[in-house]
Amino acid sequence: MAKKTTATKATPAKAPARQETMTLIDNRNGKQVTYPILKGTVGPEVVDIRKFYADTGLFTYDPGYGSTGSCTSTITYIDGEAGVLEYRGYPIEQLAEKSHFLEVAYLIINGDLPNARQQAEFEDSITHHTMLHEQMQFFFRGFRRDSHPMAVMCGVVGALSAFYHDHMDFSKPEDQMIAAHRLISKMPTIAAYAYKYSQGQPFIYPRNTMNYTENFLHMVFATPCEDYKVSPVLAKALDRLFILHADHEQNASTSTVRIAGSSGANPFACISAGVASLWGPAHGGANEAVIAMLTEIGDKKRIPEYVKKAKDKNDPFRLMGFGHRVYKNYDPRAKLIRQTCYEVLEEVGIKKEPLLELAMALEKVAIEDDYFIEHKLYPNVDFYSGIIYRAMGFPPPMFTALFAIARTVGWIAQWEEMLTDPETRIGRPRQRFAGPTTRNYVAMKKRK
Ligand code: SDX
Repeated sequence: MAKKTTATKATPAKAPARQETMTLIDNRNGKQVTYPILKGTVGPEVVDIRKFYADTGLFTYDPGYGSTGSCTSTITYIDGEAGVLEYRGYPIEQLAEKSHFLEVAYLIINGDLPNARQQAEFEDSITHHTMLHEQMQFFFRGFRRDSHPMAVMCGVVGALSAFYHDHMDFSKPEDQMIAAHRLISKMPTIAAYAYKYSQGQPFIYPRNTMNYTENFLHMVFATPCEDYKVSPVLAKALDRLFILHADHEQNASTSTVRIAGSSGANPFACISAGVASLWGPAHGGANEAVIAMLTEIGDKKRIPEYVKKAKDKNDPFRLMGFGHRVYKNYDPRAKLIRQTCYEVLEEVGIKKEPLLELAMALEKVAIEDDYFIEHKLYPNVDFYSGIIYRAMGFPPPMFTALFAIARTVGWIAQWEEMLTDPETRIGRPRQRFAGPTTRNYVAMKKRK
């Protein structure tokens, strides 16, 4: 097991030298409360309201947490207005062009790019943990063959906690690292087995002679009947997609992992909770929903009809792959993924991909539409990724499983950061109660 380097841990939010503050006045009684404003290294400052309820008897109210910082982190920085995404300070564009997924995984988990020895040790450790306990195969057999791969991933990843629990102490850095390496190594195997099981094909074991992404493609598309040669172009393209999906600040699934982990739950169970949250079509499930939407639209002539539906408040339809809580500009990942489309389509010999042409036509119409301009709705990471996955031979239900493989790196890094942050407390939000006030029990014979 590679030895752990000291990651750049989130340091407690320290008040700046000259304490800047914010004072709030309760206009009902003139009471004033003052709170420190805390700076980060870059991005919006935060007002520390940890004492707000004790001081005022009021809760703050922020459904969806759009204005709420849940933690101090040093992992990923996003500037939504400028369309900036950086992992540990490195711009995503540079990492996508110059790095590879396991090096980015090391960076996200440990805080710095590895030297040659660190990288070799890390990759050796990941390579030698890719096999599943042989008994885990029985979990797959309990599912119907047509089960959604994300349902299988939720179940099997959670089941890992049954195999790695009693002898582990996750408060110890070395056990945290073992859990991290096991999860990063085994997610591709679990995803590949979920695909094979759905196809009625035998599981293909991991091969230690292959790199991370080649090994995954081999486990998915090889059969015992003949040698399978992984396309280096497709492996490189998928590796780049894994880099782009690796982490993304405090998104829904990462916040799910953090809040699950804040109770001290087993990390495999926490990652399973992250898989569940990612599955939703408003989050990582959008890549599958985009293909369904494009297939339903079917023809460029129908784009105006669907853009109109997306703008209609009475219509629940949304343009899948568009919009983002943080990006109010182009998602930098969407641009990089769109470029990768062309490489993959050429490699697989698709001269004309109607869905890509339709997606680009839809993007052009939407981003020139006043409603989308006003609402700052641009294509996000999920808009083009499904076109690439489909061209590689993955069926749409597998798309979010690919997202989960990559995001496991971010989830586990954020879980470790949460565990080692001295400011971490169990996540326990409050509420605005709007239900019935106290009333007495009514016997059945007296009920209407
Ligand atoms: C991911 O958080 C992350 O970082 C996530 C992610 C990551 O890497 O972890 O980036 C990955 O999940 C990307 C997002 C994938 N989801 C989709 O593509 C689904 C379609 N998009 C939306 O459902 C929506 O844009 C969200 C969920 C992404 C963001 O939702 P918000 O921030 O809560 O925004 P909202 O729903 O409050 O919408 C604001 C306004 C609304 O109009 P008004 O009521 O203010 O008039 O914008 C409209 C919405 O109706 N709107 C859309 C729209 N998205 C928002 N209208 C049409 N089509 C859309 N896609």
